[in-house]
Amino acid sequence: MVNFGNIWQYLAVQSPLQATFSGNSTTMNIKTYSLPELPYAYDALEPHISGQIMKLHHSGHHQAYVTNLNKALKVHASALSAGDIAAQVALQPVIKFNAGGHINHALFWTNLAPAGTPETLFPDAAPTLSAEIDKTWGSFDKFKEAFAKELLGIQGSGWGWLVKAGPSSLRIVTAKDQDPIVGGEVPIFGVDMWEHAYYLQYLNGKAKYVDSIWNVINWKTAESRFQAGHGDFFADLKSLL
Ligand SMILES: [Fe+2]
Repeated sequence: MVNFGNIWQYLAVQSPLQATFSGNSTTMNIKTYSLPELPYAYDALEPHISGQIMKLHHSGHHQAYVTNLNKALKVHASALSAGDIAAQVALQPVIKFNAGGHINHALFWTNLAPAGTPETLFPDAAPTLSAEIDKTWGSFDKFKEAFAKELLGIQGSGWGWLVKAGPSSLRIVTAKDQDPIVGGEVPIFGVDMWEHAYYLQYLNGKAKYVDSIWNVINWKTAESRFQAGHGDFFADLKSLL
């Protein structure tokens, strides 16, 4: 009987993932997630985000979320097969944290692009989204000001997102830790406000990081997510994971 009082200790001793689990009368397939490749080189976002940060962030932090998610899903499948409801419940926070980390970073990498590329040109790369931003906040500058205020107001670690809350309704939301946007809203783009996203380059200059990130926002991706229906967006997200 596994003691789930220390789930991390238990996860750490799990054997490598297997493709299937046999229950009493069913076979359960367990999807194994993998780290998606970046759509650009580690140093491609310089000078706004250093290659050192990108390499550690992608190959270290994001990889850890993927590894720990796979471990947790395997243990969860065992608990499901055994009918161990207490173990299933105990695993929920671990799955939420690591799946959220995987989802958030997969979206983040694809909502960034090297500065000066056509994808980063606003409003040209996002004509319908820019019109909706103007309609909602009055101007792009006012939107950036409101977004920065929300990002800099996050206490501890978290994310800030521009989301589509309805057919053409925009709003800014923040999320704690790795909580993902998986309800009825469609995330258009997000900014990682964990210290690992900026500290090696900006130190305690969090506002400078927020100011710089506008140079590398992929507005083409943002436009596509803004125009996508809810189902289309999650199909696209699934393909990234
Ligand atoms: Fe991160």
